[in-house]
Amino acid sequence: MSFQPIGDQRVQLGDVIFSRISLVWTARVYSYVAAAEFVPNYSILCILLLRNVLFMSYLRLSIRTPSAPDPTPTVHSANVGVCGFVLAAFLFAHATVQAQARHQESSKGVSDPALDAQVESILQRMTLEEKIGQLVQYSAGQPTGPGTGRTDYEDMVAKGQIGSLFNVIDPRQINAYQRIAMEKSRLHIPILFGLDVIHGFKTEFPIPLALASTWNPSIVEQASHVAAMEASADGIRWTFSPMVDIARDARWGRMAEGAGEDPYLGSLVAASYVRGYQGARLDASDSIAACAKHYVGYGAAEGGRDYNTTEISEHTLRQFYLPPFHAAVEAGTASVMSAFNPLNGIPSSANPFTLKQILRKEWGFPGLVVSDWNSVGELIPQGVAIEGATAARKAFVAGVDMDMVSSLYHDHLQQVIKSGEATTKELDDAVRHVLRVKLALGLFQHPYVDEAAAPKALFHPENVALAQTAAERSFVLLKNANGPGGQPLLPLSSSVKTVAVIGPLADNPSFYQGGPPDEGPRVPFAAELTKRLGEGHVLRFKGVDVLDGSDDDINTAVAGAQKADLVILTLGERPDMSGEAASRAHLGLPGRQQELLEAIMRTGKPVVLILFSGRPLTLPWAFEHVPAVLAAWLPGIGAGPALARTLFGEVNPSGRLVVSWPRSVGQEPLYYNHLNTGRPPGDVDLTRPPTDVASKYVSRYLDEQDSPQFPFGYGGSYTTYTFGPVKLNTQRLGAASLNKNLNSATEVAMTAEADVTNSGSRPGEETVQLFIQLTGTSVAEPVRMLKAFRQISIAPGETTHVKFDLHPEAFAIWNDRNQFAVEPAKLNVWISPDAAQGAPAAAEILP
Ligand code: NOJ
Repeated sequence: MSFQPIGDQRVQLGDVIFSRISLVWTARVYSYVAAAEFVPNYSILCILLLRNVLFMSYLRLSIRTPSAPDPTPTVHSANVGVCGFVLAAFLFAHATVQAQARHQESSKGVSDPALDAQVESILQRMTLEEKIGQLVQYSAGQPTGPGTGRTDYEDMVAKGQIGSLFNVIDPRQINAYQRIAMEKSRLHIPILFGLDVIHGFKTEFPIPLALASTWNPSIVEQASHVAAMEASADGIRWTFSPMVDIARDARWGRMAEGAGEDPYLGSLVAASYVRGYQGARLDASDSIAACAKHYVGYGAAEGGRDYNTTEISEHTLRQFYLPPFHAAVEAGTASVMSAFNPLNGIPSSANPFTLKQILRKEWGFPGLVVSDWNSVGELIPQGVAIEGATAARKAFVAGVDMDMVSSLYHDHLQQVIKSGEATTKELDDAVRHVLRVKLALGLFQHPYVDEAAAPKALFHPENVALAQTAAERSFVLLKNANGPGGQPLLPLSSSVKTVAVIGPLADNPSFYQGGPPDEGPRVPFAAELTKRLGEGHVLRFKGVDVLDGSDDDINTAVAGAQKADLVILTLGERPDMSGEAASRAHLGLPGRQQELLEAIMRTGKPVVLILFSGRPLTLPWAFEHVPAVLAAWLPGIGAGPALARTLFGEVNPSGRLVVSWPRSVGQEPLYYNHLNTGRPPGDVDLTRPPTDVASKYVSRYLDEQDSPQFPFGYGGSYTTYTFGPVKLNTQRLGAASLNKNLNSATEVAMTAEADVTNSGSRPGEETVQLFIQLTGTSVAEPVRMLKAFRQISIAPGETTHVKFDLHPEAFAIWNDRNQFAVEPAKLNVWISPDAAQGAPAAAEILP
């Protein structure tokens, strides 16, 4: 090839030397070399440094000025004559060594200072148009939003007008675009290819809500590493994941994509995703850049209706919605996506307070901010811009670096910069953010994907096994009442010889944003059951479809149920009924499934209901009448074996809810960590309408209880656990001393301990949860807040002593002076199996 890509490290040093960049800068490059022990001793370093100083002085007299960037990036030696050429050749060899050193250094990720020189080297040669090109992104495959506006991407890539493409999943197509960028564009800056890889690439893991229900950050990390490995082999080096939005409202379909309602658990999960995707080295071939989305508050969409507006106080924003993003940033996420939602009147993609003040200034985020799909264009219907130029300017100056799909940066940013409405410094900073990610990923060194290798990365047996384990651990046993033999219906008893599997969802459909349906080694649930019960002992009837069905179908299923010892009903939502643009106002079983359920129950057969859904469903009738109910979410590729193993007791369910499960839609938004009201119902019986003043004038519904059907943290098991009383090592803490050590991860402010006994007859794994409540503070605080948890395996009859160390930060709140601080307060501490049980131990925080 005749060109030398500008990211090639051998050319990079040439850039350093040939440009006007300071001596300090050159010295810094050498310091990287020395640090990496590529230079044997400092005397050699000094000689090299001196030589370069002389050489730079010579060049500064003879070569280009910064105001006239060299139009061709590969002509360095041609300009400088023989003397320069000889020296350049000498340096070239030396620079290769330096390149390796810097390459090692750059493994730290986007914040790595070793990237600075390379970023500046590229930046100073870019034209205005090329800079803006890096800030422009289009979808060049299956669209994941309305209208992309353009189709001439090849031409645009050749002109350096596109920095990133997404939704391209064919490695040949990826390479074809990349070849244009690397060979035809003037500066040979590689394209960054992105995709929504949200719960696995082809090896489909359970949806994120289910993965979080494992309460196991290590599984999340492993799953996202598998996703990174498969996606990167395909040429995708950037995922728009994790979604770290707090979700308090099950009507919002995107609850499926996140880790639920709790900021503490959500933060751990967010960091795990980032670590899994990005690995120890972002430039490793199997790492991909993460994107924490949707910044911020998107999950608070009014009425649970997707894309709707949000109103969130700063206290709630700081204490609930921001922490998972902060955790993702701390874990090194390469990018953050600005959300659609207007937040307190200002759209998230034009909000300098969240994007600049919090993200950049307070958190020091060094990576890339990409808009959501056309969220720059949506500033117009949202009412803060009348036309495209203003929308582009507002998003850009607020801190959105890259414009996904709207084309408004492409169309208007030049004018915005030329008119002075945004500064060149702002433009350069945005471009720096993009280049940092590309450099950190090692894209300049390895722009292409090995097309032959791509399929070999998919469906490794150990990864499929991991997906199955994740599914098994994500199932939440909601109810397990006694069956005909007077024993809990699950696990299935050996007296069950023939089962009828009835319902539309038994065949493990893919969640729509996972791999294409039925790809990979999927074993149908019914086939797994047949392995255990034998041919002819598993009867399969669809009953109804998810959305409709006929009387005949229901009757056939009922007749089938009569022939079985037990019925397994597989009901719920179609996979595309949760996720983006899938809000629901009714959260019952869609279509005629409730009719089917009631008809089957009338047969008198014992029934196990497996619910498939991307959110909790309001099924009061089912929870009252069906003896056993398992929330299976959308379990991914391992669903069949995972479900069979669970029903037969080879796996003891250990999943725990990460969202409060509503009784009725009218309770939404519903979340355990709410503030107390001035009129909490206390002991009032909320199952009946009020009868007197005491039962009426409290915070309640006339026709529904306040409490959820199942609380946050809840999950059943085939064994039982008993929690002993909570013991604290101190009843008194001091706010002043906690504030001094607020950010210390080693300082232990308090220990809390309890005994947990497996009081049943099977080994099991319990998630022991620690909650606190603070009262008397300057700002009202929630009735409970999760601050720690631990998963423990306990043998039947055994007791495990669980001890938690609580650090000062656990007691800090966002107070009335807009600061995170510990305040004097009364303190309650629970160690319990969920957010509704247990008796607290009391303590206080003195000034
Ligand atoms: C819009 C969605 O909100 C976002 O999550 C996704 O990453 C983009 N579309 C790209 O598909």
